[in-house]
Amino acid sequence: MTSPDHSSLQQRFPRDFVWGVATSAFQIEGAAAADGKGPSIWDTFCRRSGAIADASDGSVACDHYHRWRDDLDLIADLGVDAYRFSVSWPRVQPAGQGAWNERGLAFYDRLVDGLLERGIRPYLTLNHWDLPQALQDRGGWAQRDTVHRFVDYAQGVARRVGDRVAAITTHNEPWVVAVLGHETGLFAPGLHSRATAMQAAHHLLLSHGLALQALRAQGCRSRLGIVLNLSPIGPATAREDDVAQARLEDGRSVRWYMDPLFKGTYPQDVLEHLGADAPTLEADDLRHIATPMDFLGVNYYTRSVVSASGAWDVKTSGKALTDMGWEVYPEGLTELLLRLHRDYRVPPMYVKENGAAFKDSLVDGRVHDRERTEYIAHHIAAVADALAQGVPMAGYMVWSLLDNFEWASGYDKRFGIVHVDYATQRRTLKDSARWYRDFLRTRQARAEPSAAAGAGA
Ligand code: FCB
Repeated sequence: MTSPDHSSLQQRFPRDFVWGVATSAFQIEGAAAADGKGPSIWDTFCRRSGAIADASDGSVACDHYHRWRDDLDLIADLGVDAYRFSVSWPRVQPAGQGAWNERGLAFYDRLVDGLLERGIRPYLTLNHWDLPQALQDRGGWAQRDTVHRFVDYAQGVARRVGDRVAAITTHNEPWVVAVLGHETGLFAPGLHSRATAMQAAHHLLLSHGLALQALRAQGCRSRLGIVLNLSPIGPATAREDDVAQARLEDGRSVRWYMDPLFKGTYPQDVLEHLGADAPTLEADDLRHIATPMDFLGVNYYTRSVVSASGAWDVKTSGKALTDMGWEVYPEGLTELLLRLHRDYRVPPMYVKENGAAFKDSLVDGRVHDRERTEYIAHHIAAVADALAQGVPMAGYMVWSLLDNFEWASGYDKRFGIVHVDYATQRRTLKDSARWYRDFLRTRQARAEPSAAAGAGA
């Protein structure tokens, strides 16, 4: 595969399409206990034996907390419109409730101003997984009170920076928090209960809806939405049991989130499948969850192929695999976006994460990451295909700006378009970053704004 020509690809997007790069707090900031920050569930989880592949943690990460000015210069140099970052809840409110940490708030205040000074729109995420440990000690997302703690946190952050950020995302990938955190135990807080996972998922969704209402009530003018990890999920064969299994998986990972957010119901087939593990709901919960959003964020990396016996092996797909073992399948992104547009009344959508881990080597100051460059180029083309078919796409953000702490995989998996030498913290633009920068420079003679323009904020 070769990368499409820059300007012909660029011409497939409206002038106001938002191009960005994304990171999250725990994965890059480090400074785990600096300036009054409290511990998060990921600080705790990293200490669990065997939890992180290389036995690493987030205590230093990319040291972004101290190097943020240089990192913002790097972002500006790429020529992006937007930067998606997350706020570390325990940095700004160490116990998850009560006292605010002024030094933590001031960090994000400076970050937001630094972005604006460089002409970059701040896209803020409130929860990219690093829940304050103090709240986990009281039951975490499985506990209904955490919903109200999150709403207070959202309001506090918005009071401080909400006048200057273009968009606020409540949660990043609630499926991951619920299922990987509470059912399979692969991610923090590392629990193993399906019932707990489903209750956590419900509380995440409820806190999203209530936070939207609270932020609007206090006059916050940022665009508000959520970010989901979604994939097209298909059966390995046309056999009835494979088809049924794929349908259930789609229910558990796509419809379980999309239906309540956009239709105000949980999917009946999944409720029946869960039986006694279905979450407890209170009156009006679903109505709150369905609070209208200004945008929907979609994170896409690969498709999912399901067989009832679990026998399907991605290695037999014939497609290239990334260093995560994920199949490279750009057409799945077009398929997914078309499906969301067809099945739900979606607001303007952004791809809020897309990118790939590959083994890189830094030689003479260069990283020739052709596979990553092609991955990104082909997925951008897949977004253009969706746009051409009438899907309201408003933006695209590369995951990730920097190589960083890739959760349970530690530092071994590199998703950055900028290489990080962890020994020296030196940043080096990979060829993919140079490609993206050149691609963004071709944004001159472009088509008129699309119908999704209103979401461009
Ligand atoms: C997503 C996460 C992000 C990053 C990518 C590879 O699930 O939101 O933090 O780890 O995967």
